[in-house]
Amino acid sequence: MSDETISFIRKCRVCGGGRLQPVFDMGLMPLANALRTDKAPNQRYPLTLLFCEECTLVQIRETIDPSVLFSDNYLYYSSQSETAVSSARALAEKMIKSHDLQVGDLVMEAASNDGYLLKHYLASGASVIGVDPAREAAKIAAEVGVHTDVEFFSARYAEKYRDMVDVFHANNVLAHVQNQNDFVRGIEMVLRPGGVAVIEVPYLGKMISHREFDTIYHEHLCYFSLTSLQRLFSQHGLSIRHVDMLSIHGGSLRVFVMKGKATQSQETRDLLRLEQRDGMHLWNYYADFGARANMLGSDLWRLFDRIHRNRPDARISGYGAAAKGNQLLSYFDIDFLNSVIDSTPAKQGKYMSGVNTLISSPSHEYFGEKWTEHTDFVLILAWNFKEEIMAKHPDFKGKWIVPIPDVQLVHEGI
Ligand code: TMP
Ligand code: ZN
Repeated sequence: MSDETISFIRKCRVCGGGRLQPVFDMGLMPLANALRTDKAPNQRYPLTLLFCEECTLVQIRETIDPSVLFSDNYLYYSSQSETAVSSARALAEKMIKSHDLQVGDLVMEAASNDGYLLKHYLASGASVIGVDPAREAAKIAAEVGVHTDVEFFSARYAEKYRDMVDVFHANNVLAHVQNQNDFVRGIEMVLRPGGVAVIEVPYLGKMISHREFDTIYHEHLCYFSLTSLQRLFSQHGLSIRHVDMLSIHGGSLRVFVMKGKATQSQETRDLLRLEQRDGMHLWNYYADFGARANMLGSDLWRLFDRIHRNRPDARISGYGAAAKGNQLLSYFDIDFLNSVIDSTPAKQGKYMSGVNTLISSPSHEYFGEKWTEHTDFVLILAWNFKEEIMAKHPDFKGKWIVPIPDVQLVHEGI
């Protein structure tokens, strides 16, 4: 491990405070999106979840150099899932209506990927600008009419668009950026008075209550509650007007943020109060998270033992080579699956990041048989899409295993 590859924070990423308390030490973990082309083991790095006693932000101690984190073997694509595609369209349609968007208005998205969201704004006549450092995704976006500036969104970038943006989107990117304060300062700069920023982040309350420990990885630097988000925005003259709770990604917050002091919706006030009541602003709330996550591992291994005792020749596969799937297999050292099925062509034929399990296509024959014939049990690693996955394979006669929030054996589809 070279000195430059990894650094360790001593001060909170958002408030700069020094009272950082450990919550969960995951030991040495590989990078969750670093799928391998051969069996050479991946480099592992420490991964530690911390709680800031000053601003309540949950965050990881480690920062991996982005050039290592997002190197050539980094595979992330806008989700192919039907759930995600229809949710993007619905969001754009809602915003066009509620903000009466038309020619002359401007919609901007940070981490706009292949234009999956902005393309739905084009029909309104509003101009759209994507900001994303991924050159290949930007090319695809251009083909559907979404101009993309190939760079990271930042306060420096925002200078060019001061007070010009009517609707700003940041979907699942705030937790990934190296400097949360710089990013949010940029949002404040580009928003026109009366404009709105729509920001989606995975919800920490859901991660803790549902034991979603596999969503902790080196790319996710921060894990937000509404309370900690409010603190971050208020540092930059922004305030939360409204919040929606979404089921996508195992539970997310979609917050609507304005310049200055906005009147909070009832939902916003309710959730802030609920977080306070539950004690999310106190370390104690997080104290047993690691132990509760570890119990999932015992439950899974106990189930595998039972299966193999009853049927020594039982074959078990995984489904969904998502980052969270890599984390679950790596952390619990589940290295015996006969393959992980995934519909993303770029992932097929590669190995999972931390265990020597090959990724195969759901439609291809595998070892001379279709996977539905070849396997008796399927562990759903992309558990946030479990309904969609089970519904896709009514011909599978074996049993599904769902690992989170509880280890569950599903006998037949849904
Ligand atoms: P994501 O949570 O990062 O979007 O990853 C989900 C993974 O699961 C992604 O690699 C695609 C895969 N997947 C399938 O292979 N089939 C499916 O039906 C769904 C919903 C996802
Ligand atoms: Zn803090």
